[in-house]
Amino acid sequence: MLSKRLLQFGNFSEENKLTSIKKNLEERNVPFLDLTSSNPTNLGLEFPDPILRHLLESVNLSHYNPEVKGLESARNSISNFYAERGYTVSKESIYLTPSTSDSYSYLFKLLTNPGDEVLTPSPGYPLFSYLSSMENLNEIHYPLVKRDAVWEYDVESILNVTSTKTKIICLVSPANPTGSQLNKNFWLEWKESRCQIPILIDEVFYGYDGSDEFQDRQTFPTDADFPLFILNGISKMFCLPNWKLGWILSANSDHRLENGLELILDTYLSTNTIIQSILPQIFQWKPMIQNKTKTRIQRNFRIASDLLSDSKYQVLPYQGGWFLVLKLPELANDELFCETLLEKKAVLIYPGKWFGFSHNESYGIISLITEEETFRLGIEKILVFNQIV
Ligand SMILES: Cc1ncc(COP(=O)(O)O)c(C=O)c1O
Repeated sequence: MLSKRLLQFGNFSEENKLTSIKKNLEERNVPFLDLTSSNPTNLGLEFPDPILRHLLESVNLSHYNPEVKGLESARNSISNFYAERGYTVSKESIYLTPSTSDSYSYLFKLLTNPGDEVLTPSPGYPLFSYLSSMENLNEIHYPLVKRDAVWEYDVESILNVTSTKTKIICLVSPANPTGSQLNKNFWLEWKESRCQIPILIDEVFYGYDGSDEFQDRQTFPTDADFPLFILNGISKMFCLPNWKLGWILSANSDHRLENGLELILDTYLSTNTIIQSILPQIFQWKPMIQNKTKTRIQRNFRIASDLLSDSKYQVLPYQGGWFLVLKLPELANDELFCETLLEKKAVLIYPGKWFGFSHNESYGIISLITEEETFRLGIEKILVFNQIV
C-alpha cells in the first residue's frame, strides 16, 4: 500500500544508533551537551515575543483575505529587500509560500515529471533527498570541489552530471553545512556554458557570511538568460521558523511558467496571511535579529579555532551559514566517533557522512548557533576525547 516515494528511505521508522543513544540519555534524564541544534528559538536567539505581540495588535486576526501570490504589502517589502542588494525586482515576480521546503515542492511540480532528475550539491543538506523523493524525482549529486580546505561551486563538475533528464539544478548559497557561496566568476562561466536548465537558488542563509576573505560573492546574476528561481524565507533571516513564510522570486521565466506557478499556489491556498500582513514591519528588525545571531556564530567560531588550534582536529574556515565543519583525526570513522563521543563524553555532534562528505575523510558537523557556554564546554570535551575510532 505504501507509496514508492518512501521506499528509498528503507525502514524509515528505524532509528540510527546515534539517535538511539541520544534518546536513551533523554529517557534516563542524563544531561548531555547538544552541539547540533539549529532551532534558534531554543537558543536565546528568538525574535522578541513582545515585538511580535505589538505588531499583531493592529492586525485583524479573524479576517481571511487570500491572494494567490500573497499580500501586495508583503511582496513590496521583499522587493525592497532585493533593491537594497542592488537587484531591481518587481513585486509581480514574487510568490509567497508557507516555507522554503514548500517552495521546493512547488517548483518541482512546476518544472518536472516523475522520474526526472534534480541536481543537488554534495556535501549538502539531507532534506533535498526527501523533497525530491516526495515528487517522485531522482536526486543526482554534483560534487562541491574542495580547494584549500573549503568547498566551492564548480561549473564543470555540475555540467558533468547533467543529462537529458535533468530538469532543475539546485544551488544553495551559503550552502548547508559547508557555507559554500556563489560568486561572480561562477556566473560568468555559467553564462559561457549556455546551459538552459532551470536553476533554483536557495539563499535561506543569506546574510550569515564569513569574512571578506571570500570576495566577489554574487548569489544570482542580474542578466540570467535561463529560467531562474530564488528561494528565501523568514525561518533563518528572522529566526522565525514557527511562523512559516517563504517566497519564490521568479527572476527570469515566461508567462506559461508564471501561470503554472499561480495555479499550484492557488491549489493549496495555504500561506498564512497574518504573518504576511506584518512582514514589512518585521523587515525593520532584520539588522537587530541577524546581528545577534551573527555575533553568536563569530564568537563560537573563534572559541573552536582557539581551543582546537594545534590539536588533532582541524577547524575548517567559515564561509557562511550556521555550521562549523570539523575535520576529525585520520582513521576516525565519523559515525562511530560521534556515537562514542556521546556515550563517553556526553557531547552530541553530527557525523559528516550524514551530509555526504567523502568516505576518505572524516568530519563532524557542529551548530555555530549553540549557546556559547554549552559550545565552549563541548569543544573542550572534544579536545580531550582520546578514543579515536
Ligand atoms: C539549506 C536549507 N534550505 C531550506 C531549508 C528549509 O527552510 P524552511 O524552514 O524555510 O522550510 C533549510 C532548513 O534548515 C536549509 O538548511
